[in-house]
Amino acid sequence: MSAPLKSSKASPLTGEIRVPGDKSISHRALMFGGLAVGETRIAGLLEGEDVLATAAALRAFGCAVAHDADGAWRVRGRGVGGLAEPSELLDLGNSGTAMRLFMGIAAAHPFTSFFTGDASLRARPMARVATPLSSMGARFVSRSNWRLPLAVIGSADLMPIEYTLPVASAQVKSAILLAGLHAPGETTVIEPQPTRDHTELMLRHFGAEVRVEDIGGARRVTVVGERELAAADIVVPGDPSSAAFALVAAAIVPGSSLICPGVGLNPLRAGLIDTLLEMGADITVANRRVAGGEPVGDLTVRHGPLTGVVVPAERAPRMIDEYPVLAVAAAHARGATVMHGLGELRVKESDRLSAIVDGMRAAGATVAVEGDRLTVEGRGAPLAGGAAIATNLDHRIAMAFLVLGAATERPMQIDDGRPIDTSFPGFAALMNAVGLRIERA
Ligand code: S3P
Repeated sequence: MSAPLKSSKASPLTGEIRVPGDKSISHRALMFGGLAVGETRIAGLLEGEDVLATAAALRAFGCAVAHDADGAWRVRGRGVGGLAEPSELLDLGNSGTAMRLFMGIAAAHPFTSFFTGDASLRARPMARVATPLSSMGARFVSRSNWRLPLAVIGSADLMPIEYTLPVASAQVKSAILLAGLHAPGETTVIEPQPTRDHTELMLRHFGAEVRVEDIGGARRVTVVGERELAAADIVVPGDPSSAAFALVAAAIVPGSSLICPGVGLNPLRAGLIDTLLEMGADITVANRRVAGGEPVGDLTVRHGPLTGVVVPAERAPRMIDEYPVLAVAAAHARGATVMHGLGELRVKESDRLSAIVDGMRAAGATVAVEGDRLTVEGRGAPLAGGAAIATNLDHRIAMAFLVLGAATERPMQIDDGRPIDTSFPGFAALMNAVGLRIERA
């Protein structure tokens, strides 16, 4: 049963919205806790479906995962290379991050692990991870074209590799580094375009030896293998990719002034904030601090006029999940916003490039796609709206078009709000509490 939702013209967004924990960091905190010796305590874990799928898979790999009354999570790790053979098929739901990082971990264990996911995950490419892991010594069995269901035939004797990423992907980088953690010697990933570095930061936090070198703009990341990880406490910051929906809603709804406290500000995630500032958005950061090894701050955003900008391809990895909601902001700007280098959007939870184009056109915007470049022509005025959007199991498409409905003349509708729970449980209630009007359709 799907759950259609409708979003109507919002009141000015005011007050404070505390977004849930960072999805990328939450997955890693659970997984690395499972590979460490001792007990890892995690505060602020995202309790979204994607992360809960990771917790369930870790239990199947023999780790004790507990949820305390105070909201913290505890993972008792089994040490590097110490996971147990799962006796069941692991269903990772909608989560590409869980799937690809577990491929790296399972590749290094001498048993076969079986994985599947929902219709979205079963359609996503896995060759990008299987190819480098195969050269380390793991084997795979899958449906045609490397699609799930997929079995990882792991090995306790992986070989270290040096690998240059053909696509800018933190998931691929992380899978190789996790496999490399189990291999002798040093495993190196070279990324021509830097991607989010939560794996590097958190592996160090757990005591791994990770070196990062800048080689003319590219990053060379090396992990020293066969070292134990030591359990370490983690504080998960608010997810900047979830805060993005609140920031854009406040930026486009007249009269808004909204505070988002405790949002992660890792520079490799902050591309949307940089872009909105270039567009003229009124965003300020207060109380900058470091929490759990990651930069964090309190954001205040106020409504104001936006201007179209050119977003260079080099910025795409730093804001790869934020393009659907950037397109919403761009439609309210004056002038064209041209976004380069969006090829990866075609292989996310859905084909986001098509979803943005179809949805924005249906809402009355003028948009064009040429190759991997998206152009949104802003008129500096509200769109007509009044359209129904197919979300195709994609949480960010669902949330982006609900945010659009906050500023359109007529309400926007989405066919299914359930995918939102993968990354932002409580989205509608939290957004409604600061001024949005999201309700059952
Ligand atoms: C993620 C990396 C990105 C991003 C995803 C989370 C991660 O995917 O889109 O939501 O946690 O490493 P890619 O690695 O495919 O770019």
